Amino acid sequence: MSGVVDRLSLWYDYYARPSHLLALAAHFLSGPRTRTFMTLGLLGIERPFFLRRVSATVPSALLLETSMASFAHASGTENLSPASIETTDEVVLTGDRPTGPLHLGHLAGSLLRRVELQRRFAQHVLVADLQALTDNAGRPSHVSEHVIEVIADYLAVGIDPYLTTISLQSELPALAELTVLYLNLVTVARLERNPTVKAEIETRGFARDIPAGFFCYPVSQAADITGFRGTLVPVGEDQLPMIEQSNEIVRRINRLAERNVLPESKAILSAAPRLPGADGRKASKSLKNVISLSASPDEIRAFVASMYTDPAHNRASDPGNVDGNVVFAYLDAFDSRTDEITELKSRYRRGGLGDVAVKARLVDVLETVVAPIREQRTRLIADRHYLRQVLREGTLRARAVTSSVLNDVRSAFALRPRRVSRRRMSLGFSE
Ligand code: TRP
Repeated sequence: MSGVVDRLSLWYDYYARPSHLLALAAHFLSGPRTRTFMTLGLLGIERPFFLRRVSATVPSALLLETSMASFAHASGTENLSPASIETTDEVVLTGDRPTGPLHLGHLAGSLLRRVELQRRFAQHVLVADLQALTDNAGRPSHVSEHVIEVIADYLAVGIDPYLTTISLQSELPALAELTVLYLNLVTVARLERNPTVKAEIETRGFARDIPAGFFCYPVSQAADITGFRGTLVPVGEDQLPMIEQSNEIVRRINRLAERNVLPESKAILSAAPRLPGADGRKASKSLKNVISLSASPDEIRAFVASMYTDPAHNRASDPGNVDGNVVFAYLDAFDSRTDEITELKSRYRRGGLGDVAVKARLVDVLETVVAPIREQRTRLIADRHYLRQVLREGTLRARAVTSSVLNDVRSAFALRPRRVSRRRMSLGFSE
C-alpha cells in the first residue's frame, strides 16, 4: 500500500500544478518517455511556460556527425548506435563537477552527445557540486560560483531543460542518504582498488591524508547513478571503474532485498578520442590549456596559436607529424569536411603544408562552432533569474525521483519508507 501511495505522490509531485492533475490519467496509459509530451499535449501546453525554448545552436553538420560517430559500448568493441539502444525504459544519467565554465573538450566529449540523447531517452544531468567539494573543501566558493555558469553552458549548446532534467546534487538529500546506506556495502580495500581513485591518490600525493569524502566519492557517484534509476551513463573512459563499482552495489542491494530494487547501468563511451589541451597534455582548466565555450575571436586565435604541433616541422616544406599534433586533433573533432582533412594530413606528412595554414583553418572552424554558443551564452548569463528557475524546476523533479528510489533502498535495509511532502519544498539556493 505504501508503495502505491508513494508512487501516486511521485506522480502528483511531478505535475505539481493543479491543472496537471489531469495528467495522472495519461500516466497510466503511456510509457515513461512519452508521458510528458502526452500529458502536456493533452493540456494543450507545449512546454511549461517558465521554460523558454533554447534552440540547439550547434551547427547541425557537427551534431549529426557526433551523434553518428560517438556511440560505443563500454566494452569498446561493440558499436552501440542510438537506434540499437532505443527502448522506452532507458534512463540516461550524467554529471559534471562545477569547478569552472565548460570547455571545448566537454563539447566534443559529452555535451553534443547529451543534446542527441535527450531526444531519444529520459535524461538527467546532475551538477555534482558535492562531489566537487570532495577535493575543493578548502575553497568552497570556487564550486558554488560556477554552478550557474555550467547551467548557462548546458543551455547554450542546446541541452533543452524541457527534455533534460538538470538538477543540483547538494539539493538532493536523498543522494546523501543513499550514499550513507551504500557505504555499508563497500570495503576500504575495494575503494583502494578503484583505479580512478588510485590514480588520483597518486597524482595528488594524498597518501594516508586523503580526505575521507574524496576516498568515498565512487560510492556517492553510485548514489547519483542509481538515485535516478540511471541505466545509460555517457562518460569518459576514466569513469568506467565508477560504473563497475556502482553495479556491484546494485547487485548487493538486489540480493539483500531478494528482488530487483535497482537496475544496473552501462557506460556509453565516446568513440572519439579525448581532446588534449593546447600544450598536448591532459586538458585541464588548472593547466590553463583549454578554451571556454564562449571564447572571443581573439581568445580563439591565441588558443590556436599556442597549440603544440610537431617541433621538428620547422618549414612548410618539411614533412610533419600528424599524430600527437594538437591542431589536427581539434580539426578531427570539429571540422566536418573529413575528406579535406584526410587530404590535408597527407600533404602535411609529405611536406608542403605549413602550420600557419592549418592553424588558420582551425581558427575559422572553431569560430563557426563557438560563435552561436557564445551568442546564446551571453544572452543566458544576463538572465540569472531564468537560469536559477531552470535549476530549481529540474531539482524539484529530481527530488521526486530520488526520494522514491531512496524509499525502495530503505526497504532493502529494513527501514520504513518515508512519506515525502514535496508540495512546499524550499531549495537552498536563492532566486
Ligand atoms: N565524476 C564525474 C566527473 O568527474 C562527474 C559525475 C558526478 C558523474 N556524478 C556522476 C558522472 C554520475 C556520471 C554519473 O566527470
